[in-house]
Amino acid sequence: MKSKLNSIERDVRVMRLSEELIELEQRLIPTGLHIFGRAAELKEKQDLLRAVASFDRPEHGAHALPKLVAEALEIDSYDKLLQETPTSETIELVDGIVREAVQRFCEVDAETAVSWLNAKAGVDSEKSRATFSLLTRIAEQLDSNNEIESLLRALRGEYIAPGPGADIVQNPLVLPTGRNTHAVNPYSVPSPVAFSRAEFTANALLQRYHEEHGRYPRALALVLWGLDNIKTQGEGVAQALWLLGVRPVRDALNRVTEVEVIPLEELQRPRVDVVMTVSGIFRDLFAPTMTLLDKAVRRVAALDEPFELNYVRRNISENMTANAAEFDDAATRVFSNAPGNYGTNVNFMVMDSQWDSEETLGELFVTRKCFAYSRDSSGRSVEGREARHLMDDALSRVEATYQNLDSFEVGITDVDHYFEYLGGVSKAVETRTKSRPAIYLSDSLSPQTKIRSLAETVRLETRAKTLNPKWYEGMLKHGFRGVAEIENHVANTFGWSATADAVDPWIYTEISKTFLLDQAMFERLLELNPHSVRSLAKRLLEAHNRGYWNPDEEVLEQLHEIVGDLEGAVARV
Ligand code: BEZ
Ligand code: MG
Repeated sequence: MKSKLNSIERDVRVMRLSEELIELEQRLIPTGLHIFGRAAELKEKQDLLRAVASFDRPEHGAHALPKLVAEALEIDSYDKLLQETPTSETIELVDGIVREAVQRFCEVDAETAVSWLNAKAGVDSEKSRATFSLLTRIAEQLDSNNEIESLLRALRGEYIAPGPGADIVQNPLVLPTGRNTHAVNPYSVPSPVAFSRAEFTANALLQRYHEEHGRYPRALALVLWGLDNIKTQGEGVAQALWLLGVRPVRDALNRVTEVEVIPLEELQRPRVDVVMTVSGIFRDLFAPTMTLLDKAVRRVAALDEPFELNYVRRNISENMTANAAEFDDAATRVFSNAPGNYGTNVNFMVMDSQWDSEETLGELFVTRKCFAYSRDSSGRSVEGREARHLMDDALSRVEATYQNLDSFEVGITDVDHYFEYLGGVSKAVETRTKSRPAIYLSDSLSPQTKIRSLAETVRLETRAKTLNPKWYEGMLKHGFRGVAEIENHVANTFGWSATADAVDPWIYTEISKTFLLDQAMFERLLELNPHSVRSLAKRLLEAHNRGYWNPDEEVLEQLHEIVGDLEGAVARV
């Protein structure tokens, strides 16, 4: 019997539910695939512009619209509203006004939106005009599309100037599309802004772990990707530096080549050990940054500080004592693929169902990623030396794993790379420590930086995308490819079961109900793409066979029937 809730507990639950609904509502949900050469549609444009306008953009002299509205209505700061006392009515009021202003902007013009905001909420016209002037420039670029023209020019061998890498919300200067992404100067990473944003994220990460475990993690495994660090000018790198308790130092040429130790009195917490798995792309783009990270670990390990405040030193010393390891080996924390190799292959193994035990997935991760990028005792750089035992040892002390989510557009079920990396390293840690690490992701791009557990993130993505009619109907507009995208999402979700057991069984139940057991939907999908329908049903059966989900007999029978019926049909296509 469930105990009855008292009225306070009930209110707390309702409040939490309402916060979760707001969170879902505020997410930017892609409502279809991009069509090459086609400009954004009105609805999509409005959503994008609203997301752009929800951030202060000092570099463009523009203020965040929700903040301007909240200030004008004298209802405390919008940031505070989001972080501390999210009363849904006030947020809804502010968001509703912003939504309508952006709609008026898109349908009429900037001046109309400026006057309307002034009349409706008393927003200072000078201030909102600056924001709408930025939105005008972005809207113009969204309305035009040079992709086909650029492609033709590229095919003619003409030069196309590249643009910065990011999404539109992060950096509107990525527009116009139809260009290549230029890299960043690795010596400029992390930028001062990235370093300052990372302080908040790293603290929030440690705080979340502390709330759940009553202490700080001894060591964290971080995943660092190249494109992410291009887009954020090195936020992931900066997070690693903060965890270690060092700051980047620039030389006379303004290049980040050194680190400086942040004193413990200032840090007010222990230095946390970090084991970094960097992607092949990161390795290729950020060689000096890898040297910097390696240097940071060694600097911290050499500090004369007590073990209980310097986990790096403690872990290294423990390894040296227990395994008679040399300092230079024991301090190795930056790992990647062998030179010239990319990826973990964990995604391929999962997609092809070619694995017996989950442990195999973590072992494959380590096999691919155990190449050390560090230094030897004479200071010579070691680039890509196979060092499985060093990675084994470093991972054996890890208690939490983490990856920074850098994009509004691509989440952990959109592509198979998140589970191959974060899932892969988490499984490798689990095997070595005999205990599943706490697994976290951050969403450092929303106005409210948030640390979520992996299971929370899987739920959020599932609700915002896979099971959201707004998302899947958007996909289904693309016919064959759209069904394949839905099936991909299910397969990527399954990847989180395989590597981290992070998918609630209800998710598989709802996926079955929504796409296969609903007759009308099933027929639509079948008509568009029987291959993907069969793969989807097979994946759900695999989820059951591997113990991630235990549906009713009837459901299982129906899934078997779908797979059986389609076997022949697909073979004939
Ligand atoms: C990267 O940017 O490093 C990356 C991109 C896609 C998959 C894996 C890594
Ligand atoms: Mg299991």
